[in-house]
This record gives sequence, C-alpha cells and structure tokens, in this order.
Amino acid sequence: MYTDIVMDHFMNPRNVGEIENADGIGEVGNIKCGDIMRIYIKVENDVIEDIKFKTFGCGSAIAASSVATEIIMGMTVEDALKVTNKQVIDALGGLPPVKIHCSVLAEQALKAAIYDYATKNNLEFEGLKGYNPVEDHDHHDVVDIEF
Ligand code: FES
Repeated sequence: MYTDIVMDHFMNPRNVGEIENADGIGEVGNIKCGDIMRIYIKVENDVIEDIKFKTFGCGSAIAASSVATEIIMGMTVEDALKVTNKQVIDALGGLPPVKIHCSVLAEQALKAAIYDYATKNNLEFEGLKGYNPVEDHDHHDVVDIEF
C-alpha cells in the first residue's frame, strides 16, 4: 500500500523539530482526520535556509512533511510557493488515494509559514497573490490550530 520512500520518510523523518526565532511559522490542521502540521522556516536573502516541521498525524502526513522539507530546503521563497502537493506525492513515489489530503496539508502548512514571514516583514510575493489563510483553509478543509 505504501512505497518504500513513504516508509523510509515515516520511519526516519528528515528535518523534524522547531527553529528558534523562525522567520515564519505555519500551522494547519485537517478537521476530518484531526491531524495537525506545523512548519518553521528560516529565510535569508529570500532563500529558505532552514525548514523544520512537527506533525501530529498519520504516517503519510509525516512522510509528506519530511519529503516537503527536503524539496524546499534551499529554494527561493517564490519557488517554494510553486511547490504543489502533487510534487510531494511524486517525490514519495505515490500515495494511496485516501491519503492525498495528507500531502495537501504539507503544501498548506508551507504556504501558511511563508504567509506569516511575508506578513511580519511587509513583503509581497507573486505566489501569495489572492492567498487568504481563512478562505484557503475553508477550501481545503484546513483550519488554524493552536498547539
Ligand atoms: Fe489526515 Fe493523514 S490522515 S493527514
């Protein structure tokens, strides 16, 4: 049911933890399954120099956040905003259909972290145009969760 890559990232997740004094933090949760994901980013000269995550959720959500951090590390903020859950799924070698929403959580947590960074620094990014955390969360069945 799960690829070896999914199992590897679930058993040995990369970039787990918190970043002290993170430049942006994104928290999202899925109402239906109750899983929660938090992503921390450190940005320097528009490049995501460090990214860490904490996921209280299923194995697919942990694998998706782990592989997403690998994809995003070292990217410019603008490029990171173009990363989709489809890329996350491809990097995992696929996910079962019922687990697709777990990868959406990773995409949304990243976007929320960048939105937080942009808001704190008064920055505008092309990829955030039209992004409204509340509205987007409604569309994707995602809500803000306080830990
Ligand atoms: Fe909800 Fe995986 S079952 S994030």
